[in-house]
Amino acid sequence: MGMAASEKHETCNMKHETSEKLIVANWKMNPQTFKEAERLFQKVQEALDGISGILVVLCPPFPYLKCFKGFRLGAQDCFWEQGGAYTGAVSPAMLQDIGCEYVIIGHSERKQYFGETDEIISKKIFAALKAGLQVVLCVGEDSRDSFDGSGRWTGELDPKIKEQLVGALSDVKKSQIKNIAVAYEPVWAIGTGHPATTDDVLSAKIFIKKIVGDLYGRRVAERVRILYGGSTNRKNAVSFVKDGGVDGLLVGGSSLDIDEFIAMIRSIHENT
Ligand code: PGA
Repeated sequence: MGMAASEKHETCNMKHETSEKLIVANWKMNPQTFKEAERLFQKVQEALDGISGILVVLCPPFPYLKCFKGFRLGAQDCFWEQGGAYTGAVSPAMLQDIGCEYVIIGHSERKQYFGETDEIISKKIFAALKAGLQVVLCVGEDSRDSFDGSGRWTGELDPKIKEQLVGALSDVKKSQIKNIAVAYEPVWAIGTGHPATTDDVLSAKIFIKKIVGDLYGRRVAERVRILYGGSTNRKNAVSFVKDGGVDGLLVGGSSLDIDEFIAMIRSIHENT
C-alpha cells in the first residue's frame, strides 16, 4: 500500500477529541481473501483523504490486522489473559503490539455463537484497557418489546441493557471511561434491514448515560461516547448522529460495501 497516502491519512485522523465522530467498521468474518481485503482498504484510504473531524476505525478479521499500516485499526474481539496456553486466543497486548488501537467487545454475535457472558465481557474489557486499547463495548436488547406497535418507545428500555452495562463496567475505573465508547446495538436491528428509529436511539443514549452517570457521576456520563449500530446505511447515517444524538456509528454490512460506507462517511462529514 502507498505509505505516503497512509501517513497522510494517519496525520489527519490522529486526534482523539470527543467532538469527533467515530465510525467503526465491523467487517465480521469478511472478506474471504486477503486480495479483497486489500481492495477494501485501498478504497477506504483513497476516500478518507481530505476528510477531517471523523475517526474511521476498520475492524477486519485478525489475519488482516497486521497487513495494513497507516489505518486506525480495531480487532473484533480479544481474550482476557496476556499469554499462555489458550489455544486459538489473541491477547490485547498482541493487538496493541501490532498497532491495533481499538477492540470491539461484547458484540451480540459473540454472545450468540461463542457463549460470551457479562462476566467474560468484563474480564475482556479490563484486560483491553490495561493493554492500552480503546474499547467499543456493545450493548443492546434482544427484542423490540420496549417499543409499542407504532414503534414508539414505551418508556422502559429493556433492563438487560442496564444489566449488560453494569456487568461490563464492573472493573472499570472512573479514569478509564474515556477509553470506552458504548455502542447501542439492538439485536433485532443488526443485519435485518430494520434499524432503530432515531427516537429509539436517543432514548437509549439517554438511558445509557444515566446508567454511566449513576456509576461514575454526571460529568463522566456527559463525556462518554455513545455509538449506534444496526442496519445503518447512507440514507440513515446522518439522522442517527443528528436526531439520535450519537457520537458515531458501528457499521456492519454497509462497511463491506465500500461505496455505501464512503457515502456514509461523506454524508456525516458534510451534514453534522
Ligand atoms: P449491521 O451490523 O450494520 O450489518 O446491522 C452492525 C453490527 O453488527 O455491528
